[in-house]
Amino acid sequence: MRVCIFGTGYVGLVTGTCLAEVGHHVVCVDVDAAKIEALNRGVVPIYEPGLTPMVQANHAAGRLRFTTDAEAGIAHGEVLFIAVGTPPDEDGSADLKYVLAVARTIGRHLQAPAIVVDKSTVPVGTADQVRATIAAELAARGVDVPFTVVSNPEFLKEGAAVEDCMRPDRIVIGTDSPEALQTLRRLYAPFNRNHDRIVAMDVRSAELTKYAANAMLATKISFMNEIANIAEQVGADVEMVRQGIGSDPRIGWHFIYPGAGYGGSCFPKDVQALARTAQQHGVQPRLLAAVEAVNAAQKQHLFELMVRHYGSADALRGKTIAVWGLAFKPNTDDMREASSRTLLAQLWQAGARVQAYDPEAMGEARRIFGERADLVLCDSAERAIEGADALAVVTEWKQFRCPDFALLRARLADAVIFDGRNLYAPADVEAAGIAYYGIGRGRSLRRVEI
Ligand code: UDX
Repeated sequence: MRVCIFGTGYVGLVTGTCLAEVGHHVVCVDVDAAKIEALNRGVVPIYEPGLTPMVQANHAAGRLRFTTDAEAGIAHGEVLFIAVGTPPDEDGSADLKYVLAVARTIGRHLQAPAIVVDKSTVPVGTADQVRATIAAELAARGVDVPFTVVSNPEFLKEGAAVEDCMRPDRIVIGTDSPEALQTLRRLYAPFNRNHDRIVAMDVRSAELTKYAANAMLATKISFMNEIANIAEQVGADVEMVRQGIGSDPRIGWHFIYPGAGYGGSCFPKDVQALARTAQQHGVQPRLLAAVEAVNAAQKQHLFELMVRHYGSADALRGKTIAVWGLAFKPNTDDMREASSRTLLAQLWQAGARVQAYDPEAMGEARRIFGERADLVLCDSAERAIEGADALAVVTEWKQFRCPDFALLRARLADAVIFDGRNLYAPADVEAAGIAYYGIGRGRSLRRVEI
């Protein structure tokens, strides 16, 4: 089938590439000429495992093309995907200016019947706005081209985006048009083998499904972080508690990892946007507000542990803290809303220096922070601990899981580790003569008065 995708960010690029991989003919349109030019040279602007070779192969095969020419893209596609960003505006609502700009462009150039698919995460009611925007442009041209707007939210995770896209656990399609549903069934047939993964529903339910999924996952994380904070105070180890509850299939093992808070381009933004939607419709989003508040506090928790260790924030002045991990999670270079940014800001505020290393996010860190005297971006985890007083682990990259504790003991002048992702067994760290602070387990090995 012939597909046009607007937006070559995470969602658009991965979706377009995976559709090309299964044989569809895909044209990706973006307003960013430099990005399109790079993609046409086979240079992929994001780090995503498996994506670059797939882009290059499908581009070489002629099934995947990149252009800034929206008109050509619209003429090509029987299905037109909108996969542009929906950044939060000042009040936390999703900003639809890019989505509606694409809708206007479609309305201006549409010549033949098409299915327009909202892939971006958009508030309930956006499909109606997209439909009205396209219709207004068609009316202004005095033409009547049939089209329908479908909601088909994307559930891919950064770092596993290609895998998630090629093997989705569900494909949500929101439409009131049986014909559109049939067309999308054909489009997705290669991803829908063995058992039917398509969940068909009305447009608004599909729009809300995406937010409900992300808000539920964020809730699980904030819940566990709250339990971790309780565990820390009562002398329990949240890692034990996690294992104690995860085996209940109603709770499950996924997304109950306490840590330095959730970040990324989805959870923070989507929880806020859903809360906004609730308020706009007269529902008090009490739980969503709490999820958000717990997370904001949790991002500051590693610093609080440092203050606890050193006695005061003042005592951090002049210290050099090694930071392992800057990306908001492993296997990505993305630092949007990353917990590391909160920690670095707090450390700098306190007058500490930072020596940071991340396997993928160094370029991003350079772009975000620029040159500054209190930041050294190191090219290895070992470099980052050279001359450091303490180590903070912020992202759970695999390569940080088994460090040489003897080396850490030799390098870290204050012999202390702040483990923001509970990667280490406290006993292992302490056996090496290093003080250990984790999330929800800081006092678990000590006697606690209750
Ligand atoms: C998320 C959803 O998982 C995906 O389905 C949706 O389409 C987009 O948003 P993503 O933002 O890429 O994907 O990352 P994810 O792997 O879900 O992690 C989000 C954040 O939560 C990370 O900062 C991670 O460190 C944190 N997290 C995750 C925890 O703190 N604890 C957990 O148990 C799981």
